[in-house]
Amino acid sequence: MCGIVGYIGNRNGIPIALAGLKRLEYRGYDSAGMAAFDFKKSGVFSIKRVGRISNLEMALGKRNFEGNPVVFHSRWATHGQPCDKNAHPHHDCNKKIWLVHNGIIENFKFLKDKLEKEGHKFYSDTDSEVISHLIEKYFQGNLEKAVARAIKLVRGTYALAVISEDDPQKLVAARFSAPLLVGVGEGEFMVASDPSAVIGNTKRVAYLDDGEIATLTPEGFSVTDLNQVQKEKTVEEIEWSLEEAQKGGFEHFMLKEIFEQPDSIKDTIRGRILLKEGMAKLGGVEGVKDKLKEIKRLHIVACGTAYLAGLVGEYMLEEYAGIPVEVDLGSEFRYRSPILDKESAALFISQSGETADTLASLKEVKENGVLSLGVVNAVGSSVARETEAGVYNHAGPEIAVASTKAFTSQVSVLALLTLLLGRQRGMSKSAGQNIAKELFQMPKLASLVLKENEKIKSIAKKYKDCRNFLYLGRKYNFPIALEGALKLKEISYIHAEGYGAGEMKHGPIALIDGNFPTIAIAPSDSVYEKMISNIMEVKARSGKVIAIATKGNKKIKEIVDDVIYIPETIEMLTPILSVIPLQLFAYHMAVLRGCDVDKPRNLAKSVTVE
Ligand code: G6P
Repeated sequence: MCGIVGYIGNRNGIPIALAGLKRLEYRGYDSAGMAAFDFKKSGVFSIKRVGRISNLEMALGKRNFEGNPVVFHSRWATHGQPCDKNAHPHHDCNKKIWLVHNGIIENFKFLKDKLEKEGHKFYSDTDSEVISHLIEKYFQGNLEKAVARAIKLVRGTYALAVISEDDPQKLVAARFSAPLLVGVGEGEFMVASDPSAVIGNTKRVAYLDDGEIATLTPEGFSVTDLNQVQKEKTVEEIEWSLEEAQKGGFEHFMLKEIFEQPDSIKDTIRGRILLKEGMAKLGGVEGVKDKLKEIKRLHIVACGTAYLAGLVGEYMLEEYAGIPVEVDLGSEFRYRSPILDKESAALFISQSGETADTLASLKEVKENGVLSLGVVNAVGSSVARETEAGVYNHAGPEIAVASTKAFTSQVSVLALLTLLLGRQRGMSKSAGQNIAKELFQMPKLASLVLKENEKIKSIAKKYKDCRNFLYLGRKYNFPIALEGALKLKEISYIHAEGYGAGEMKHGPIALIDGNFPTIAIAPSDSVYEKMISNIMEVKARSGKVIAIATKGNKKIKEIVDDVIYIPETIEMLTPILSVIPLQLFAYHMAVLRGCDVDKPRNLAKSVTVE
């Protein structure tokens, strides 16, 4: 997500931290900023610029400042549009405390209201600013003590770095559920959200753990817990090259993003599930809640993988919210004549928020005066700006062209919307609680699926020379069959067809033979028996079958050639788990075939032309 770099030591920290920030550019960002203590003037100065880091660099170059300590930040917006005002560092009322923050503060609204009542003046739309005001509130001359008191009140995730004009020989950093490390040099120390930011300067690092606060001075650094009790930290040597560090030690961004899913799903649902009430809280649609209650039909419009997430949403919303849903490809919707009446709403799903066909369809909907909603990952993107209301994914930047973590995040948002709309339309509290409880488990269950990686790799080795695959699924896992086939096509260039298993007899069954394997998504759900019949039909024609099944189902092993198990959950949420083995299978097939996984031929991450 966002990037943090800080420096304190015996040199001018500005060029050092700026170079570190540039090494984080690959993560994606929309604005950048810095604050530094200027010893000549005995004060902190700050510059923030929307857009590229080079804009910040240019502004800095013009002024020729020297600073120490310094904090730099590249922002990937979650709360508030990308603009100078919302860029980090954020300051307190007196512009003395300057803070950079990665993560999401769940209770920021509550804290902000309270601080405003106490007289604090806010200037940005971010959740992060609230922490600088909290630190201001508790500051009594010692920065780390004020930080410790402030973050005890904060709920959510954070990696932060702070400097203060009134305690200027310090750089204080703290972490909870967002990565942060201390870089250890000779007479100089750094903090960074990612090892690649410090690698040019030092390879010695100490990784902070949750609930730890680090205080850096030019002489050294110390780490305490939130109660100011000292902690011992080991300094490790990074053995990665810069490129390896950027991929977090994974061979490709795609694999890194697949493995990020427990975290990205957690970030998507964070603060949005009300377990006791069996309800979802979605701030971005709060303003149109009453309108949503009245709609008689929902159009979902998207492209590529986002479209397939929309298809999963159709099953969820129709079954649990009782709303008729139509899902369209952006490229079709814009040219057909959909019935757009005032009783409809349209939901646009897009990772980038810039896909041309999705945007053109949005324009059409707006011209017809229909309520438009977005499910978007990139904050401030065109779809986010143009829709009336919506839900951000908070999945973090996705770099690999093949979408993985955005998909599971989109499906998670659709499950939240189902909960919200379902409860508005007669879903019982206990049914809501059941969905809420299961959705809350998804990050943990997703991490269990990832444990199957080695097994999936060995299955891919077995099938690597096959030139064709059939993917079959039913009901909630019909769109997953399409998504599994799409992933394989996109990155390994192997021909794959996704089909509703019941449709197999109407065509694809003619293709089946010993060299045309089938991947059957067969969790223990309401259509399991039907799936088994379809699997038997494939087997009867000498077809090899790889099944995705629910853990504990030993019987299926007797029928199919290979099984990949996923944990048990409620039927509507199985797609979030069943898609992960298919992402991994496509990934390993592509690697085994020597394909450029992160940049597949002929494809673009964001399709901004028709
Ligand atoms: C491209 C990408 C896909 C993505 C699709 C829609 O084809 O390669 O991964 O699903 O565009 O993109 P969007 O940004 O609108 O979700």
